[in-house]
Amino acid sequence: MAKANIAVKPLTPSIGAEIEGVNLARLDDDGFATVHQALMDHLVLFFRDQDITAQQHLAFARRFGEVEPPHPVFDRVAHAPEVTVIEQHGRVGVYNDEWHTDVTFRRRPPLASILHCQVAPEVGGDTLWASMYAAYETLSEPIKRLIEPLTAVHDITGGFMETWLDQPDGGIAAMQKAQAANPPVIHPVVRTHPVTGRPALFVNRSFTVAIRGLSRVEGRGLLDLLLTHAEQPSHQVRFRWQAKSLAIWDNRVTQHFAAADYAPHHRKMHRVTVIGDEPFFRA
Ligand code: SIN
Repeated sequence: MAKANIAVKPLTPSIGAEIEGVNLARLDDDGFATVHQALMDHLVLFFRDQDITAQQHLAFARRFGEVEPPHPVFDRVAHAPEVTVIEQHGRVGVYNDEWHTDVTFRRRPPLASILHCQVAPEVGGDTLWASMYAAYETLSEPIKRLIEPLTAVHDITGGFMETWLDQPDGGIAAMQKAQAANPPVIHPVVRTHPVTGRPALFVNRSFTVAIRGLSRVEGRGLLDLLLTHAEQPSHQVRFRWQAKSLAIWDNRVTQHFAAADYAPHHRKMHRVTVIGDEPFFRA
């Protein structure tokens, strides 16, 4: 599994690989092609010891496509606002400890997200990813047939409610402003990957708020079934961070979860997301 000096080492059969022999600040076209193919095959890739600046992080992201504008809720790097800062000091702040796919409240949710560790907590703070190909493939045939024609509503307020409610004024004005700038969108419940052609489950706990055409009780029950199924450990890989570790994931076919088990330690990440296509399902 090596091309030039790049080694791709799978961590599970369905998701995750460590990549060795790469300096992301100096990646030639052949190296990029190997990394891109590994991402299609393994969905999330891990690199150690990547001593890159915010600008180099952005430059790597731009090789995959146009990057997302600055995040509507999280902090930003001052001189590179497309680089989101995800930081917790001890017990202060709201954690990212819910299974989710990034920014599905947009019409074109990210193709990929790239997370670069600035400060790793002494203990804890791992991130987990789950394959939504595996989640779809392991559903029973009757449930697959049921969900394939369905579409669902994704809403920014689903995922950031706690962040806003934490604000001294209750955050209602901020919530309304964010929702006005990011109105709810409709996505298929099963999406076809535009490169591999494989189907993947495409609902998540943070932003999927309703399934169209079902009653509220039916929609909640079905979402609960799909999310509980998607979040099973057999679809997952878990990564232990060190400073300068970098992870890139295919956001179209994965969910992730940042374990909130590291207080009182400090954890700081930089994240860049690459704009994706409009999700579609092809039977
Ligand atoms: C994210 O949810 O995109 C960030 C995950 C993490 O901080 O580990």
